[in-house]
Amino acid sequence: MKIGIIIGSVREGRRAGAVAQWVHDAAAGRDDLDAELVDLRAFDVPLLTTETLPMAANRSYDSPGVAAWSRAIDACDGFVMVTPEYNHGVPGALKNAVDSLGPEWVGKTIGFVSYGADGGVRCVEHWRSIVANFQMLDVRQQVAMSLFTDFDGAGLAPLERRATELSTLLDQLADLTAKVRGTG
Ligand SMILES: Cc1cc2nc3c(=O)[nH]c(=O)nc-3n(C[C@H](O)[C@H](O)[C@H](O)COP(=O)(O)O)c2cc1C
Repeated sequence: MKIGIIIGSVREGRRAGAVAQWVHDAAAGRDDLDAELVDLRAFDVPLLTTETLPMAANRSYDSPGVAAWSRAIDACDGFVMVTPEYNHGVPGALKNAVDSLGPEWVGKTIGFVSYGADGGVRCVEHWRSIVANFQMLDVRQQVAMSLFTDFDGAGLAPLERRATELSTLLDQLADLTAKVRGTG
């Protein structure tokens, strides 16, 4: 099964890249997942201005960036969303990119790795209600990293227990994805 690890910040100097790489390193050591980084910044998804609703676009998009983003998401069976929290909610660029597609998300699985002053827990609660609209299946386990204890001056420095939390998240994601695909 192919799991896309979405780098959910497009900001210069973002923390998301290091967090996503940490997730990828853990996923790459498993033989039940084929993990791939999906970097939102690489797709240059424009603000959604199209008249046709993405859910009704039949995967046909005017923007080359959206078309490439569509292919990348379509290729995955499930996702780990690496997401910061912005103003107690989800980051706008990532929400816009999620809104810009439709069927590419439907019925797939997702787990959340968040970070922020309070671990990004508020934005993940927000994400869970958003992805429900695509009938996505979200796993319970979350990795919620604190800006104060999981990062240091050099960057990401996760607490020891985070590796176990991530392992549980990946276990749940692999199990749920296999069930959805009818292989587990
Ligand atoms: C626009 C903006 C709003 C933010 N709001 C919050 C917030 O509500 N809660 C929080 O914990 N951190 C907040 N932060 C701090 C982010 O958690 C921190 O900057 C983090 O590194 C952002 O992720 P990124 O570096 O991958 O973009 C905010 C940051 C930005 C840029």
